[in-house]
Amino acid sequence: MNLKSTIALCTLALAQSVFADDFIRINTDNVDLVLRVKDNGRVYQSYLGKHLRYEADLQNLPDGTEAYLTHGMEDYFEPAIDIQHTDKNPSLLLKYVSNTTSSKDGGNETVVTLKDDKYPITVKLHYIAYPKEDIIKTYTEIENKEKGAIVLKKYASSMLHFSNASYYLTEFSGDWADEAHISTTQLNFGKKILDTKLGSRANMFTPPMFILSLDGEATERTGECLLGTLGWTGNFRFTFEVDNKGNLRVISGINPYASEYSLAAGQTFTTPEFYFAYSHSGTGKASRNFHDWARKYQLKNGQGNRMTLLNNWEATYFDFNEEKLCGLMGEAVKLGVDMFLLDDGWFANKYPRHSDTQGLGDWDETKDKLPNGVGRLVDEAAKKGIKFGIWIEPEMVNPKSELYEKHKDWVIHLPNRDEYYFRNQMVLDLSNPKVQDFVYGVVDNLMTKYPGIAFFKWDCNSPITNIYSLYLKDKQTHLYVDYVHGLYKVLDRIKAKYPNLPMMLCSGGSGRIDYQALNYFTEFWASDNTDPIERLFIQYGYSFFYPAKATCAHVTTWNRNASVKFRTDVAMMGKLGFDIKLDDINEDDATYCHTAVKNYNRLKPVVMEGDMYRLVSPYTGPHASTMFVGKDKQKAVVFAFDIYPRFGDKRHNVCLEGLDANRQYKVCEINMMPNASSSLNGNDRIYSGDYLMTVGLDIFTGNKLNSRVIEITAM
Ligand code: DGJ
Repeated sequence: MNLKSTIALCTLALAQSVFADDFIRINTDNVDLVLRVKDNGRVYQSYLGKHLRYEADLQNLPDGTEAYLTHGMEDYFEPAIDIQHTDKNPSLLLKYVSNTTSSKDGGNETVVTLKDDKYPITVKLHYIAYPKEDIIKTYTEIENKEKGAIVLKKYASSMLHFSNASYYLTEFSGDWADEAHISTTQLNFGKKILDTKLGSRANMFTPPMFILSLDGEATERTGECLLGTLGWTGNFRFTFEVDNKGNLRVISGINPYASEYSLAAGQTFTTPEFYFAYSHSGTGKASRNFHDWARKYQLKNGQGNRMTLLNNWEATYFDFNEEKLCGLMGEAVKLGVDMFLLDDGWFANKYPRHSDTQGLGDWDETKDKLPNGVGRLVDEAAKKGIKFGIWIEPEMVNPKSELYEKHKDWVIHLPNRDEYYFRNQMVLDLSNPKVQDFVYGVVDNLMTKYPGIAFFKWDCNSPITNIYSLYLKDKQTHLYVDYVHGLYKVLDRIKAKYPNLPMMLCSGGSGRIDYQALNYFTEFWASDNTDPIERLFIQYGYSFFYPAKATCAHVTTWNRNASVKFRTDVAMMGKLGFDIKLDDINEDDATYCHTAVKNYNRLKPVVMEGDMYRLVSPYTGPHASTMFVGKDKQKAVVFAFDIYPRFGDKRHNVCLEGLDANRQYKVCEINMMPNASSSLNGNDRIYSGDYLMTVGLDIFTGNKLNSRVIEITAM
């Protein structure tokens, strides 16, 4: 070991003095990120990749590129940080001060402290490594000890460097009801930017996640890749820049667009967290690592149960009353789900919420729809033995509302211009503490009045437009950032007072999905598009980063060409719910659904807590398959879908994954329609895990819109 470190034991942390040519090693069981302090006192990223077996080899690593590049010095490409000092000087030169290691958030944290040698600006690079999950979480703190305010122009969470023969970037882009389309491009000289400027519903066109493949395109099972995602519920930016030497830098953080941030003397700015999984055996492994890590460390109640539900949105839209809702609760009971979820349309009196044109912001029950209030519904649900959940959209306001009439100063809008409405609504100014109190109050008042409420669906349907805050006065460029800080303050208060309250993160679909938000939410609504074919693609996209238990998937009437069985089988790969009128479906379908819910409950430990394998991508042809294996390899479930196989479609066995090669497994098709029998070759037979993973099963058919759920049980 070449470390000449003087190690001093502090109360909690190990502070290490590292000298020129020494290394700072941040590692998990399978990954190494190596920083090097060179004799100029600056810190370089020497290595990021597969775990190095011998510490002595660190000396053989190339010098690498400066880890957190600054603007104004000698680098010619995009910096991680760009600030303007009090004296207007735009440069920053960061030199090594110290590094510490300690335990934090379940991982091992390394903090590298850097300081400008001319100005009292300190930058701390935080890296928290999770050994078993091979995830590294990183963020940056920028501390201003100058006499006055400095301006942060760019302030990345993370900068990573790569030096490979080729780079492929996979992005997940789309639109409302068309989320998470996967496309891959090779990165050549220059920049590719993935970003958003939408503010509140920030991720409507693209969520903050990407896959970077190195030295050729990674596949599910092969290749080197990095899966990266930012925990920020607002504008983000990923910059991928290939320089003149063919080196790539990846800069991740808040989008600095229209967001110059003035940092007062004595203050510290903490960036959002960037999380990455590095895999040298394909994307499947990296996804499973993300799922494990999220369940253990990041997702709200990540290891807890999730409720199945019946939602009334598509069954009624705004057209309901107490009687109709009580009737639907009866249907929820028949289905066997855990909860009834009341959606939009239950509130406002001066401008009752009979459509999306009015009422948003006035959170009192509409008297003629719910004369006995929400309390009556909570009681009815309790009587029927199910839980009750409720929809809110507390950050928004319709101009046709009492809230708008009273508090126009709380609304983000340009006072000297015409208003612009997205879905007939506007965004409240969460940078204002009074607005934060109001938004918090929406949840707190409901919970205080009706402690029986067991679930919230928190919607957010508008991006920020016509951006201007009356509260922020001369700090308008703080609004995008302070909006998110304000949101987190509200969510912190809710989490502190109601730590066990499950909440669904919804944003007209998944318009604001990220891992910081999921620290407050137990699950997210993946898309308003519930056509099961589209869902095969959308859920596939999100599965790269998010575990099934966080991904809400409901059975609806979208695409009646697909059977109720097909629709349900797709939804069972996520957190199952229904959003359908049961009297819309025939008796066989109803019987099937009831059995499917039972099967789902039985298989929850496998689907929700197990390892997920994407066996066949819907992007590769007319079939798709995903498999979940329980952690003890005792049980697995395979979902197989035939979408539109063509005449003459050639089918092959599909090899299963994740089983114990040395155990015997019984294969059994479940979720059958009443009176149907399985046509699966080898159904009810026993195979070794080795056979199933080597030879596989003939799980597909040539039928259009056909689905199979196959339970695999160790004998
Ligand atoms: C958008 C959501 O995505 C839907 O599920 C539904 O809750 C509507 N909003 C209600 O307005």
